[in-house]
Amino acid sequence: MKIVRAKDYDDMSRKAADIISAQVMLKENSVLGLATGSSPIGAYQQLIKRCEAGDLDFSQVTTVNLDEYCGLDPSNDQSYRYFMNVNLFNHINIDPANTNVPNGICQDTESECARYENLIQKLGGIDLQLLGFGHNGHIGFNEPGSAFVAETHRVDLTESTIQANMRNFNSKDEVPRQALTMGIRAIMQARRIVVVVSGEGKARAVRDSVRGPITPQVPASILQLHRNVTLVCDEPALSLL
Ligand code: F6R
Repeated sequence: MKIVRAKDYDDMSRKAADIISAQVMLKENSVLGLATGSSPIGAYQQLIKRCEAGDLDFSQVTTVNLDEYCGLDPSNDQSYRYFMNVNLFNHINIDPANTNVPNGICQDTESECARYENLIQKLGGIDLQLLGFGHNGHIGFNEPGSAFVAETHRVDLTESTIQANMRNFNSKDEVPRQALTMGIRAIMQARRIVVVVSGEGKARAVRDSVRGPITPQVPASILQLHRNVTLVCDEPALSLL
């Protein structure tokens, strides 16, 4: 695992955007796996600036997002589809038809998960997967548990994730309890993985993922088995390493 040390959140965001930009420049029709949350927002802002400046072209790029809350439709400002539109897609020259997020309001979860899994396979897998770490070491919404789940699946969010995500909702009751998430296989089959991690609150997750045993109790620890992972962390996130 390569660890890139960043001074602070802005530096982390620039460095992550550099890697993503290089990917898109070297392969115009890249498949990018994307994440939501506070960690990648700065990197998305960088990508938007570079696209606006004419330095980056997303016209042939396809994206697949990691996850979506169950029960939130795309017009809900807490849905991950809404987040991606507002924080990235609406501001770059990507074809909206080439942006994919699991459908959180599907009638049939099983067939939606199978559809998403097939879509990723049909695209030929993911060239670059961007990840954040949950405080509990989750990646996507693969929560700590007794086994790694390979495929796209529906998951019950843990109390710690519900608490962490509460900051975006008016009350804890409004935070969805379930989500659809890409499984460990599609993430691990990505040809390159870039993780952005910021803040002291994530230091334990970084330490356990990088130095701890590989265990489903810390889902991100599986990344130790991937050949091409770059962790871009600010100083506080690295404080326990
Ligand atoms: C988001 C996702 C999550 C987040 C993680 C960190 O699509 O899959 O795994 O990356 O919860 O969230 P932030 O960046 O908000 O701390």
